[in-house]
Amino acid sequence: MSEILAGASAKRVCLAGATGTIGQATARALAARGYEVVSFLRRRPDRAAPEGARFVDFSDPASLAQDGFANERFDAVVSCMASRTGAPKDAWAIDHQAHVNLLEAAKQAGVQKFVQLSAICVQKPLLEFQRAKLAFEKALIESGLTYSIVRPTAFFKSLSGQIDRLRAGKPYLLLGDGALTACKPISDDDLGAYLAECLEDETRQNRILPIGGPGEAITPRQQGEELFRLLGLEPKFTRVPVAMMDVIIGVLRFLSPLSSRLADKAELARIGRYYATESMLWLNPETGRYDAEGTPSAGTETLFDFYAAVIAGGVAPDRGDHAVF
Ligand SMILES: NC(=O)c1ccc[n+]([C@@H]2O[C@H](COP(=O)([O-])OP(=O)(O)OC[C@H]3O[C@@H](n4cnc5c(N)ncnc54)[C@H](OP(=O)(O)O)[C@@H]3O)[C@@H](O)[C@H]2O)c1
Repeated sequence: MSEILAGASAKRVCLAGATGTIGQATARALAARGYEVVSFLRRRPDRAAPEGARFVDFSDPASLAQDGFANERFDAVVSCMASRTGAPKDAWAIDHQAHVNLLEAAKQAGVQKFVQLSAICVQKPLLEFQRAKLAFEKALIESGLTYSIVRPTAFFKSLSGQIDRLRAGKPYLLLGDGALTACKPISDDDLGAYLAECLEDETRQNRILPIGGPGEAITPRQQGEELFRLLGLEPKFTRVPVAMMDVIIGVLRFLSPLSSRLADKAELARIGRYYATESMLWLNPETGRYDAEGTPSAGTETLFDFYAAVIAGGVAPDRGDHAVF
């Protein structure tokens, strides 16, 4: 184990993924609770190191040790890092291998706690990025560190993609009848707070934690209806049959061997279908069914209040590369 320098703050946290949607919210939540946050970022041409941040190469264990932990004392790691595309190669490189490297370097540096942002969808793993996340969850559980694996439901940004369509007078797109699935969305700040509180709350330690936001589960049709109401428009829906998505996926898969770009597109189409047909709720292992009642809730912010704020012009959803989620 590396030599640990004495005299550092008692509550010093390494934050990975600090530039992402939930990472930014988690940085705010940690700072508000008095933690000293040191963000580990990848170097990018357009990026200067902000105060309190360090550039590391997550694919290189030596860089994590030297440029990141740097023989200093860290009490915990919180990771909100994730592949920005969800494409299989990137998912295995980031959601799995980069995290394995981070975990190993953290252990070497004497870190005691590790809080991992995962996703509720890994409970039914049909996609490569879900298998990559699960493989890291397993490594973390077996690591001997105190862990919290947080598996949230849907984020607000992922349920806000159609607002501009509706403003432009277009119909809301539904897969099937729009009631195939439901979710209990959680806000960025509520999830950031939940992650930060895992560091002190022993009931959240050495556990896998499915977590949604407050209130009842909401279907896509209810999301569309609320958006039309807030916009003062007559509701208009276009139903896309699931079979049509299957045809598109089939064609892309057939063409996949021709190029890795087409293979990635096929996987992204499969990801889209997954989210359009699987609920983001706790999956009851006894019944094999998604269970809204059994999905724990945290926080106070609701999706519909967020929609109202977006439509009033107060906030803009951070769509980013995860728009397909
Ligand atoms: N969207 C949803 O509804 C939903 C629901 C449940 C769970 N989740 C899960 O929540 C997680 C985080 O989501 P998010 O929306 O906050 O993610 P995000 O905004 O896409 O942020 C991803 C973060 O990971 C970092 N990152 C990506 N590739 C990297 C690399 N090669 N080296 C270093 N850092 C890298 C990014 O840094 P850069 O700025 O350098 O790119 C960024 O800080 C994901 O695991 C997702 O599966 C999402």
